[in-house]
Amino acid sequence: MRVTIFGTGYVGLVTGTCLAEVGHDVACVDIDQAKVEGLNNGLVPIYEPGLEPMVKANHAAGRLHFTTDAAAAIGHGEVIFIAVGTPPDEDGSADLKYVLAVARTIGRHIERPAVVVNKSTVPVGTADKVRAAIAEELAARGAVIGFEVVSNPEFLKEGDAVNDCMRPDRIVIGSSSAAAVEKLKRLYAPFNRNHERIVVMDVRSAELTKYAANAMLATKISFMNEIANIAEKVGADIEMVRQGIGSDPRIGWHFIYPGAGYGGSCFPKDVQALRRTAEQHGYRAELLGSVESVNERQKGHLFELIQRHYGGAVRGKTFAVWGLAFKPNTDDMREASSRRLLQQLWEAGAQVRAYDPEARHEAERIFGARDDLVLCDSAYQALAGADALVVVTEWKQFRSPDFARLRQALADGAIFDGRNLYHPDEVEAAGLAYYGIGRGR
Ligand code: UGA
Repeated sequence: MRVTIFGTGYVGLVTGTCLAEVGHDVACVDIDQAKVEGLNNGLVPIYEPGLEPMVKANHAAGRLHFTTDAAAAIGHGEVIFIAVGTPPDEDGSADLKYVLAVARTIGRHIERPAVVVNKSTVPVGTADKVRAAIAEELAARGAVIGFEVVSNPEFLKEGDAVNDCMRPDRIVIGSSSAAAVEKLKRLYAPFNRNHERIVVMDVRSAELTKYAANAMLATKISFMNEIANIAEKVGADIEMVRQGIGSDPRIGWHFIYPGAGYGGSCFPKDVQALRRTAEQHGYRAELLGSVESVNERQKGHLFELIQRHYGGAVRGKTFAVWGLAFKPNTDDMREASSRRLLQQLWEAGAQVRAYDPEARHEAERIFGARDDLVLCDSAYQALAGADALVVVTEWKQFRSPDFARLRQALADGAIFDGRNLYHPDEVEAAGLAYYGIGRGR
């Protein structure tokens, strides 16, 4: 099938590549000329395991094209995806300007019937706005061409995006047009083997499904962080509590890890946007508000532990920081907890020596050159001259450090473990002070 995808960000690029991988003929459009040129030369602008070889192979096989020529790309696809960004505007609502600009472009250029598919995370009701924008442009040029607007939200996780896309646990198709649903079922048939993964519903339910999924996951995390804080106060260990509740299948083992707060481009933005949508419809979403405020507080928790250890005297101390990305296997630092921590450390007059396996260039871009930050090339290099260690991102390579070596390197011998990677007894046995999340025992 011939497919067009607007937007070569995480969602657009991964979706386009996976659709090409199963044999579709995919044209990816982006307004960023440099990015398109790069992609045509095999330069993948994001770090995503497995993506680069797949982009190169499908590009070389002639099934994956990158272009800035929107009109030509619209002529190419019988299915046209919108996968551009929806950044939050000042009040936390999702800003639809890019999505609607693409809709207008489609309206200006389609010459034959097409199915337009919204893959960006967009508020309930956006499909109607996209439909209206396309119809307006068609009317403006006096054209009568049939088209359908479908909601088909994406559930991929950064760091595991290719796998999520190739082996989706569900494919949500929101449309009341039987013909459009049929077309998407054909498109997704290669991903829908062995058992049925496609869930067909109305457009608005599909739009809300995406927000509900992310809000539920964010809620689980904030819930666990809240219980962790209570555990710390009452002298319990959240890691024991986690194991005690996860075995109940109604609760489950996934997404109940307490930590330094959730970050990334999705949870913070989507929880906020869903809350705004509710408000715009006259409903105050109390639970979502708490999910957000618990997370905000949690991002400051590591610093609180540090201050407690030092009795507030953090000025002049040097902290080794392991992990800057908002989670492992990505270089993405959007809304990362590390950013709050570094800011707090700097404001308190501390120095930072940070190491992240992938996010170094992102950190350089975000923080620029500053006297109180040294970006290091290895985890152990970050320890040189440091007083204490703070672990912010749970990269696998941080899981089993040599604690004796840590004890030697860290002048004040303290570890602040923002992801509960270590066993307090093991750390303390090496002569180090241990602080985790919710480990009050
Ligand atoms: C999230 C969802 O997991 C995807 O299903 C969704 O498609 C995506 O958003 C999106 O809307 O595009 P992502 O933002 O890549 O994916 O990251 P997650 O793996 O969900 O992690 C989010 C944050 O939660 C990270 O900061 C992570 O450290 C934190 N987290 C996760 C916890 O603190 N505890 C946990 O138990 C799990």
